[in-house]
Amino acid sequence: MLYHPVTIGGVVLPGNLFLAPVAGYSDRAFRSVCREGGADFAYTEMVSSEALVRGSDKTALLMARAPNETQYAIQLFGGEPAVMAAAVRLILNGASAERGDAGTFGSADACGDAAERSFSARRFDVPEVIDINAGCPVPKITKTGAGSALTRDPDRLYKITEAAVRASAECAVAAKNIAADNAAAAKNGDEVKSLDAEAKNGAEAKISDAEVTIAGPVPITVKIRAGWDADHITWKEAACAAIEAGASAITLHGRTRAQGYEGAADWDALAELTALVAGETGGKVPVFGSGDVFSPEAAARMLEQTGCAGVMFARGAMGNPFIFIQTRRLLQTGSYEEIPVSVRMEAGLRELRCLIEDAGEESACRQMRKRFCAYSKGVAGGAALRAGIVTAETERDYVALFRAAGVL
Ligand SMILES: Cc1cc2nc3c(=O)[nH]c(=O)nc-3n(C[C@H](O)[C@H](O)[C@H](O)COP(=O)(O)O)c2cc1C
Repeated sequence: MLYHPVTIGGVVLPGNLFLAPVAGYSDRAFRSVCREGGADFAYTEMVSSEALVRGSDKTALLMARAPNETQYAIQLFGGEPAVMAAAVRLILNGASAERGDAGTFGSADACGDAAERSFSARRFDVPEVIDINAGCPVPKITKTGAGSALTRDPDRLYKITEAAVRASAECAVAAKNIAADNAAAAKNGDEVKSLDAEAKNGAEAKISDAEVTIAGPVPITVKIRAGWDADHITWKEAACAAIEAGASAITLHGRTRAQGYEGAADWDALAELTALVAGETGGKVPVFGSGDVFSPEAAARMLEQTGCAGVMFARGAMGNPFIFIQTRRLLQTGSYEEIPVSVRMEAGLRELRCLIEDAGEESACRQMRKRFCAYSKGVAGGAALRAGIVTAETERDYVALFRAAGVL
């Protein structure tokens, strides 16, 4: 069975087809349509641990859970262990009333009511997983020791991962203690403490009507690249450092920093890594694959050829959030159906509406230009359609354009 549940630390995911962290795309608008399209799990784009610790409002929006996401991961980047630990603590201290609220919104209106979804800079959704970025190739990031600089600096990767794992574990213990106090208080009819008010505990305690639920620490995972360049292939050292520091899963994007997003991803390395990690951890730490997953068939091949536990779709999901359900069908039944273009464009419009709620119409419509270009791939007369897309300024513009082009 190539399609199966996956366990990351104490978190069980229903399946193994994920949306990768993709800057500029995997905001909650896109994640929510990917979820509708069958994604089992999705990652936010990378969020700066430094900015988070500084208290940037923009960061809070990047990290928000999509209303239809029952499980998701926040990805952090940073080069300083202490800052990474502080960022993890901040996220996990954001626990409380928000946890689980998202599920009250239906998928037909995946973004729900704006007023209900509003959040302040200090109230974060608590993710099921926190992922550390050790792959970003952008010089502004790598020169701070973050991103793919970490793949070639296993000592620093170890320290950063260890700091994050420790912070998460401490938060879980603190949450457990407060939850126990509250259980006792509830029994005696005393007032229960709010996790927010305590402001020092972790993500995994949820208190409602004096009922207490405790789970383990939020698992920390790491996403690495194959190495710095062809002369410095370091995925093995990086993965071993991350695992030694307590990472609960490793994702390998099988390109080097020097390759950027060009050239073939090294799936042989992925197969080797999968076998290595299985041997080192007795199968406790899953390995996920990223790179060149542009079709359901490619995902099936990656799972088959490498033995990895799950695949991440990145560019392959752009403009086709149904690639997840198509892949699942392929893996389960051996075939899948094409998605009519009108269904894809409708999904794009739902994404736009979600983005409007978060970013306002002007910004959302601009951000959606490149995304609608992806949605319109393969459409007859696509060039003319894309010429219209890159000048659209309102939701009405988009709808009128798509109706005129006969794709709605
Ligand atoms: C525009 C763009 C932005 C990306 N942003 C991130 C990011 O924020 N964090 C991350 O770990 N990887 C990021 N990636 C890498 C992807 O997650 C993925 O590993 C990579 O695109 C390889 O998969 P693909 O060949 O199937 O696209 C990004 C990739 C692209 C193309």
